Amino acid sequence: EGKRDLTGRKVLITAGGTREPLDPVRFIANRSSGKMGYALATEAVRRGGQVVLVSGPVELAPPPGLAEFIRVERAEEMAEAVLSRAPEMDVIIKAAAVADFRPVQVAEQKVKKGDGDWVLHLQKNPDILAILGARKRPGQVLVGFAAETHDLLANGAEKARRKGADFIVANDVSRPGSGFGSDTNEVTFIFPDGATISWPLLSKQEVAARIFDQIVQLLGEEE
Ligand code: C5P
Repeated sequence: EGKRDLTGRKVLITAGGTREPLDPVRFIANRSSGKMGYALATEAVRRGGQVVLVSGPVELAPPPGLAEFIRVERAEEMAEAVLSRAPEMDVIIKAAAVADFRPVQVAEQKVKKGDGDWVLHLQKNPDILAILGARKRPGQVLVGFAAETHDLLANGAEKARRKGADFIVANDVSRPGSGFGSDTNEVTFIFPDGATISWPLLSKQEVAARIFDQIVQLLGEEE
């Protein structure tokens, strides 16, 4: 398979989860393995793209052939890395599971266990995808992910519209073989107008190939 249909295209992919620190030894994280994002980066390199991978902490080696690899921890660090590079990108795929909230206070020293409870106050993180959508320039293709446990289709179309994405890759993370940690994924592409394309259970590498087929089609329509 020698498709080189991303030649000359700049592609930015985010992958993995973020870590929001509570103190020097503790953080809030999520179940993202980074596998889907890394599969996307591998596929984009294979197809000739100039690929920037922005990754949270994961147990995966960066795929060979990347133009740039940026490791981040917090959502705000990811936002900085992505937004500073976004203007020059042709394609941006937000496969990362970005923490929606971060602790208001980060203790400089390890918090000791006292007698009472530790009550956390969390504040909202910037929605990187929504900011990208608001700043999207003509010809740029923006793809989001949506991990849902219910109302997948209704939430997906609304999400695509609200965040300015060209389409959302939705998966039901409560289904076996789909979502976090798995090597396979069963996804539906959801477009802002409510149109959908549903795929059977596929390897994450095959899902990545379907996603880039769709992206290449959209890039062609823009020209
Ligand atoms: O709203 P929800 O978190 O389900 O949206 C998921 C999509 O939005 C993913 O593409 C994710 O990477 C992106 N996102 C983001 N910044 C956030 C939260 C989600 O870019 N703070």
